[in-house]
Amino acid sequence: MTESPTEARLKFLEEAEAFKAEFERRLTPIEHLSPRNPAVFVSVGGGELGDLALTAAKRMFGGLNGGVRTVVFDRYEGFPAQDVADAYEVFDMLNGDRLEEAIRRHIPDPNEPHAIYLEIERVDTLRVCKLGIEAGYRVASTPYGPLICMDRHMTKLMFDKLGLPRVEWAYASSPEEVKKAARDFNLPVIIKPIMTSSGHGTTIAQTWSEVEAAYDYAVKHARGKGSEVVVERFLPQLKKEGTEVTQLVVRHFNTEGKIVTSFFPLVEHQRPGATYHESWLPASLPEEAVRKCRESAGKIAEFIGGLGIFAVEQFYVEGKVYNNEVANRPHDTGMITRWMLNLDEGAAQLLSSLGLPILEGDLEYARKGVYGVAHVILAPGREDQSYREAPVKFWGLWEVKRFMEAKGYRGDLWYFGKPAAYPGRRMGLAVAFHEDLAEARKRAEEIAHHAEAKIFYG
Ligand SMILES: Nc1ncnc2c1ncn2[C@@H]1O[C@H](COP(=O)(O)OP(=O)(O)O)[C@@H](O)[C@H]1O
Ligand SMILES: [Mg+2]
Repeated sequence: MTESPTEARLKFLEEAEAFKAEFERRLTPIEHLSPRNPAVFVSVGGGELGDLALTAAKRMFGGLNGGVRTVVFDRYEGFPAQDVADAYEVFDMLNGDRLEEAIRRHIPDPNEPHAIYLEIERVDTLRVCKLGIEAGYRVASTPYGPLICMDRHMTKLMFDKLGLPRVEWAYASSPEEVKKAARDFNLPVIIKPIMTSSGHGTTIAQTWSEVEAAYDYAVKHARGKGSEVVVERFLPQLKKEGTEVTQLVVRHFNTEGKIVTSFFPLVEHQRPGATYHESWLPASLPEEAVRKCRESAGKIAEFIGGLGIFAVEQFYVEGKVYNNEVANRPHDTGMITRWMLNLDEGAAQLLSSLGLPILEGDLEYARKGVYGVAHVILAPGREDQSYREAPVKFWGLWEVKRFMEAKGYRGDLWYFGKPAAYPGRRMGLAVAFHEDLAEARKRAEEIAHHAEAKIFYG
């Protein structure tokens, strides 16, 4: 008898657990940073999240002379983290041979200090993780972590294994199985490919005809194993009266050389659609809910183990916390940490994954008594419109700053410096600080919309 997809994934989780123990025994802190033998930090993907980690190496250590050599890959010339890295390469990171060759070239000996950060999902994750499992490369957090987190089915099985709260869900690999799950849960349901991000291939089915169409749609848009989906009970109250949060957790060495788990303050976010739109610190959830969010995230981090950041996405609705998905890396909603905490999530990923210490106070608020809200600055047009890329001609920093000044808005602007845009592309972040959350959200949105009108393409 062949094993079912569920059995295979449960077995994989067991393997991951066994591997973790062995992997952690091999992890050692870096005691000395030396320009003669620098630790190598490879970011596979160099968007804004890669940029946050790489600039931290420059800010905190002066880069190479401070003992950290940064390397970054992405698929196009002119990507945000390119110019801050000590070395960069442009190629298709879904090409496993090319990716492995580049990693091995920059880290010839996996016994030398290094860390590999998978910044995005659109890379040959399996190939990189195999390098970790078979050749001893230090993929953050463990070589199994990114594989568990990129697979919704495996993530849900992990939640259940750990007894964590989550929405009701079912695995399906045919239209009949989708229909059966929808009957069990009642409409509405949400149908998601096993491997996707940004809502690609996902359907919220309100009617039975939508359930019928959802499976084909998911299969058409899926990445990787296209015939598998997850069906979930849809929580209609989430967008109306609930809220979403990301519990960032970091596994790192403490000053005694022990691996420990530390928690960031809970980040709250809301979104009109499926993708990141605005996030803030501190979150407005009651204490009991915050405690539950932490408890779940802590169990996940300890189960997967290793060194690095875990971003656990959670829903809070009608007094309940549901775990949704996990990214084994920094998270777009967490970019607000850059303005609000002593250490941002990019710096924390760099330090923790390399085996450098993080102190308790590092994750405390640097800015107190205000809410800090980050709002995306998007290129015009909707993401699903036909793909037309336009180069950036210029952008009006002065005009945005004058607007902020005239309005008396305290805040900031992070322009990512992407050379071109397609409809809906994330070009930057607008940030506002205010004692009142609603006011801070309004201001961040106003700055963002003002900035959007000041980027000129063509
Ligand atoms: N079961 C659900 N009930 C209500 N809303 C949901 C549910 N699942 C997802 N969503 C909404 O869709 C968004 C994207 O879903 P998610 O599972 O996080 O996929 P992605 O990989 O695209 O981020 C969530 O942030 C949330 O707003
Ligand atoms: Mg998500």
